[in-house]
Amino acid sequence: MTVATLPLLDSLSALADPTRCRMLLLLERHELTVSELCAVLQLPQSTVSRQLKTLADASWVTSRRDGTSRYYSLLLEGAHVQLWALTREQLAGKSAAEQDVRRLERVLTARRAASEHFFATASGKWDKLRDELFGNDFAFRAVAGLLDDEWTIADLGCGTGAMSAILAPHVKQVIGVDASEEMLDAAKARLAAATNIELRKGSLEALPIFPGSVDAATFMLVLHHLPSPADALAEAARILKPGGRLLIVDMAPHEKEEYRQQMGHVWLGFSEDQMKKMLAAAGFTHVRVHALPPAHSAKGPALLMATGRKR
Ligand SMILES: C[S@@+](CC[C@H](N)C(=O)[O-])C[C@H]1O[C@@H](n2cnc3c(N)ncnc32)[C@H](O)[C@@H]1O
Repeated sequence: MTVATLPLLDSLSALADPTRCRMLLLLERHELTVSELCAVLQLPQSTVSRQLKTLADASWVTSRRDGTSRYYSLLLEGAHVQLWALTREQLAGKSAAEQDVRRLERVLTARRAASEHFFATASGKWDKLRDELFGNDFAFRAVAGLLDDEWTIADLGCGTGAMSAILAPHVKQVIGVDASEEMLDAAKARLAAATNIELRKGSLEALPIFPGSVDAATFMLVLHHLPSPADALAEAARILKPGGRLLIVDMAPHEKEEYRQQMGHVWLGFSEDQMKKMLAAAGFTHVRVHALPPAHSAKGPALLMATGRKR
């Protein structure tokens, strides 16, 4: 390699132009399109595009596509980190650069204006549009991201694994327990790709889980099937660590007697008061019970949720 072909010389020669340095100062603050750069630098598009190409050829800028727009930003790698620190120091306080920053604010304000205008007029229709665009359960699924990624959670009466599938991406381990071979087979098929879910066949009244070994446990649409919910709650308390969380979702009291024959329900729902008493009797503290708003498409009875902490 001759001195003339040293990459550092390309880097330096790309910097040897005040306009290109102003561009880099702007691109260090924000990703910008060519037309935004034109507006800030008050230069024609052909000039800005030519200068951007010089900077890109010397690896000073990178770009990404967003829909039909292309956004440019400063790329700092290797020797460019030190070179840019020196250059930036020299540019500090220069009036052209300061004016650029003021015009940049105007450009960014214009960018925000479109979304501000939209929200100023869309408040009445946003909820419907949100559902149409994204469905109505994405937020509920995303909330699982607030779980501690070190947790082990027991999905008690896991059935076909719907809840385990939601929890598993966010925690260390999920242990699904169910008495039904058929339900567990369906869960196995659904959860085949997950590496942190263990399915165990067993009874909720004698859980195949060590005492004090899980951080949280859930009974999702399960308690109304159990002749003695109190026994299952006592088992949940046994397997939880001190301070461990319990989540129950079940039906509020209803009159659909036919569910007993059709689906083997033992209890026609639970009242908020019943839930609170059962949880307190099983040794849970911080008990909270909330009615859940029915989904638009739901045909079954209203649901409630209860949470508590193992003492
Ligand atoms: C209505 S399903 C709910 C499944 C799942 N939690 C869900 O939300 O889709 C109730 C599950 O509890 C299981 N189950 C009922 N009684 C049980 C018991 N005593 N021991 C273990 N599993 C039981 C059933 O096999 C069934 O899979």
